[in-house]
Amino acid sequence: MTAPADVTATGITKSFGTFRALKDLSLTIEGGEFLTLLGPSGSGKTTFLMILAGFEAPTKGRLSRGGTDITTLSAEERAFGMVFQGYALFPHMTVAQNIAFPLVVRRRPKAEIAARVARMVERVGLAGHEGKLPAKLSGGQQQRVALARALVFEPAMLLLDEPFSALDKHLRGLMQEEVRRLHREFGTTFVFVTHDQSEALSLSSRVAIFNHGEVLQVGTPKTVYERPENRFVAEFLGEINMLPLQGVGPDGAGAAGRFEDGALSAPARAGAGPNAVLAIRPEHMHLANGHIAEGENALFARVTAATYLGPATRLQLATPGGTPLTLTLPSTDAARAEPGGEVRVAWPKDKGFLLPGGGEPALPAALP
Ligand SMILES: Nc1ncnc2c1ncn2[C@@H]1O[C@H](COP(=O)(O)OP(=O)(O)OP(=O)(O)O)[C@@H](O)[C@H]1O
Ligand SMILES: [Mg+2]
Repeated sequence: MTAPADVTATGITKSFGTFRALKDLSLTIEGGEFLTLLGPSGSGKTTFLMILAGFEAPTKGRLSRGGTDITTLSAEERAFGMVFQGYALFPHMTVAQNIAFPLVVRRRPKAEIAARVARMVERVGLAGHEGKLPAKLSGGQQQRVALARALVFEPAMLLLDEPFSALDKHLRGLMQEEVRRLHREFGTTFVFVTHDQSEALSLSSRVAIFNHGEVLQVGTPKTVYERPENRFVAEFLGEINMLPLQGVGPDGAGAAGRFEDGALSAPARAGAGPNAVLAIRPEHMHLANGHIAEGENALFARVTAATYLGPATRLQLATPGGTPLTLTLPSTDAARAEPGGEVRVAWPKDKGFLLPGGGEPALPAALP
């Protein structure tokens, strides 16, 4: 098959009238990777995908593939596979005809079309459904047909725009497995759009976080989740506690600053400034039993609410100075935290990270 495509976008701007949907965006997509574009509604994900596919032209900037400029190549010439939001199947064509369509358009020999369609039907688990019309299929089966149709001509890159947004949670999980497997088997470059952060983290080799037409950070799921570069990325990827510090300076190999009546430490970070915020994910905090281990931060807080979630319990807390905190604990550990009571919260210093003070918070609406 064709080698997986690597594409570099350089300085891409897309204007609609005076509105700039993409602002001087640069991003390299590596051959064979599973890159997810993650960001709130309106952040420019679909616009960027349309430019990659060749359905939209950038106002400024260029795209290159393997060092060759492809900015002005048509969508047909690029020949990337595309799966759109919703199903977008041809309703009057059978499953087999839908899957065969890209090969028919490319005027492939009949015998080759039949063989490839038969193989694709098998690979996406639709054997026995070849003669059905899309209306007779479940949502997950329709989405499988769309995937098969996009992969049947072995494109060098597959672009997927929120392909599972119309599916219920269970089917969505099954289709995520399917896409992961297809990526492994085909080795094609996948560019996948979602605004669901857990989907992005679980599927991708790298995640690019979009906001207001810009890419704020690109990295492995672990890097963007555990070492976000700014407040927006930190908050968009999941729940996080933010402790505003003052007078942040060096502390051994790390950094430390004042928080209310005490001091807190975190790994040093260049450019965080004296008023950095110490960010810490709720799952990294625990309730201390008196003794605070070397290498841990600790602070006192009052329990404001406890929500039992089965295996875990979510605690809402407030520090004496009024900073809110959230903790997620195994329910067995949370039993002694009664609303109104005081607890001591601790966490390993190296699990926290400093973010520059200020910065734009992620809108809560961005989280499901
Ligand atoms: N053809 C167009 N004309 C005018 N404005 C447009 C056009 N297409 C997109 N936009 C604007 O560009 C911005 C980015 O849109 P885009 O569809 O890329 O967002 P998105 O990140 O895919 O959002 P969602 O998660 O809701 O799909 C939006 O503000 C949108 O209104
Ligand atoms: Mg979109």
